[in-house]
Amino acid sequence: MAKKLGFCFGVEHAIDMAQKLLVERKKVYCLGPLIHNSQVVERLAHQGLQVVENLEQITPAADEKDTPTVLIRSHGCRPELLQKIKAKGFQLVDATCILVKRAQKLVQELHQQGYQVIVVGDPNHPEVQGVVGYAPEVIVVNGEEDISRLPPHGRLAVISQTTHSAEDFGRLVGYIATRGYEEMKVVNTICRETARRQASAVELCRLVDVMFVLGSRHSANTGELAQLCRRKGVDTYHLQDWQEFKPQYVVGKGTAGITAGASTPGWIIQEFAENLQHF
Ligand code: F3S
Repeated sequence: MAKKLGFCFGVEHAIDMAQKLLVERKKVYCLGPLIHNSQVVERLAHQGLQVVENLEQITPAADEKDTPTVLIRSHGCRPELLQKIKAKGFQLVDATCILVKRAQKLVQELHQQGYQVIVVGDPNHPEVQGVVGYAPEVIVVNGEEDISRLPPHGRLAVISQTTHSAEDFGRLVGYIATRGYEEMKVVNTICRETARRQASAVELCRLVDVMFVLGSRHSANTGELAQLCRRKGVDTYHLQDWQEFKPQYVVGKGTAGITAGASTPGWIIQEFAENLQHF
């Protein structure tokens, strides 16, 4: 097992908040799945958490006691959405991870200081979609092909999606630097939790013949972990849980390693490890 794996403090905090709210309040909504793990989302739905796509899907309160509560997930959201929730008279509970909040604040401040803000990350990831809302004209760079969209000169400030790989962030910052900007300010917004999981996975790759990376296929940090293990030359399988395990994955292998993304609950990891050992 990797030394560091599974739930990060941001995800744990969001789940704790949701569970507390579900005990205290009647109508609790979340815009999009609370975390990128369908098993956890299903459990919370069982306890009453309703997942909606937009605020229009929430029925307004009939009386004060009936006021809907909207929970913001750890990925955060655009600032307009927070205002809209309040304007609709809904109760707002913000479970945005403190590290995502830091990135949001930085985007705002760097723009005010006159920088063209660049976010290295996946433009379709909810965290990035939220972060870019904190300043006008923020540019998202996901690969070398996006660099041609940057302005030819000026003062740039570059931050990263919190779950991006440090290697890739560094590589893209290097490419951007070759364009010869007068000033480049780089703020490392990569979450240490992600980096720690990645370092533990790399350490484990040296000792095993096959790696299992557990977590949802929508989880960016789980995907990054799997890619990292593959780059280290180890046969790697990104699986959601034990149900996806196939015996051929371990044919001819002596030692198996297990790691898991920041949104993978302990019980999925435990179940997988026990079954694999048994197998
Ligand atoms: Fe926050 Fe890092 Fe987790 S940004 S949600 S602690 S992976």
